[in-house]
Amino acid sequence: MVRLVQVSASYPQQTTRVLKDISFHVLKGESVALIGANGAGKTSLLLALTGILPICHGSIFIDGAELSKRNGQVAQRKTGLVFQNPDDQLFMPRVYDDVLFGLLNRGIAEEEAESRAREMLDRLGIGHLAERSPSRLSGGEKRLCALAAVLVMEPEILLFDEPTAFLDPKARRTVGALIQALPHTKLIATHDLDFAQTLCSRALILCSGALATDDAPATLFTDSVRMTEWGL
Ligand SMILES: Nc1ncnc2c1ncn2[C@@H]1O[C@H](COP(=O)(O)OP(=O)(O)OP(=O)(O)O)[C@@H](O)[C@H]1O
Ligand SMILES: [Mg+2]
Repeated sequence: MVRLVQVSASYPQQTTRVLKDISFHVLKGESVALIGANGAGKTSLLLALTGILPICHGSIFIDGAELSKRNGQVAQRKTGLVFQNPDDQLFMPRVYDDVLFGLLNRGIAEEEAESRAREMLDRLGIGHLAERSPSRLSGGEKRLCALAAVLVMEPEILLFDEPTAFLDPKARRTVGALIQALPHTKLIATHDLDFAQTLCSRALILCSGALATDDAPATLFTDSVRMTEWGL
């Protein structure tokens, strides 16, 4: 479903590579954790997967279609990124407008878009927040709204950047259960090892922009010597 072949990338005007020769494969329906110290390249990798960060070497395939080629837009539509900071994702005056925005932008008729937006808010149990301003919500509420804005676009692959950051234990459980129940192919960048172990059957460890290893979370997280080597 997601395949990277020797992918390298740099930010504009930077000479150092932020992603270095990364190859891996995620199967349809799999949940994979992306683990690494601050600055290891997790967010950059998710940005590369959505086409926001252009790659300078290698290839990314989404459901068999290469991301950077002519059909890139089709491939891009298959992925949805829930940002590390919901404030980077929610920018409209009302939650409802944020959920509606992507649908209208994609050219979906107003009536259908409106019913899909309302339905998604209700499905996530946040219908009562529809008329509220995203900037005045709690961290957990914002995260659910950001998730609604992504899910409503019906992506097949969900990319989560630190989905439990800033959440209290209860909100963490709510968001965790919600993510776990989604049938999508998922790639989850997180510092929360318990969360990764509960939700994911595999973990990729990123270290200074390179893929250090790819194994079962339980195997990796109990190897204290290697965890220290990876800065974890
Ligand atoms: N817009 C940017 N321009 C230039 N360099 C950047 C940019 N964003 C991130 N970087 C650099 O790329 C490297 C990887 O950053 P990235 O945000 O991908 O790490 P991360 O693993 O997500 O870290 P964290 O756990 O802190 O979120 C860091 O050295 C960072 O300084
Ligand atoms: Mg990050």
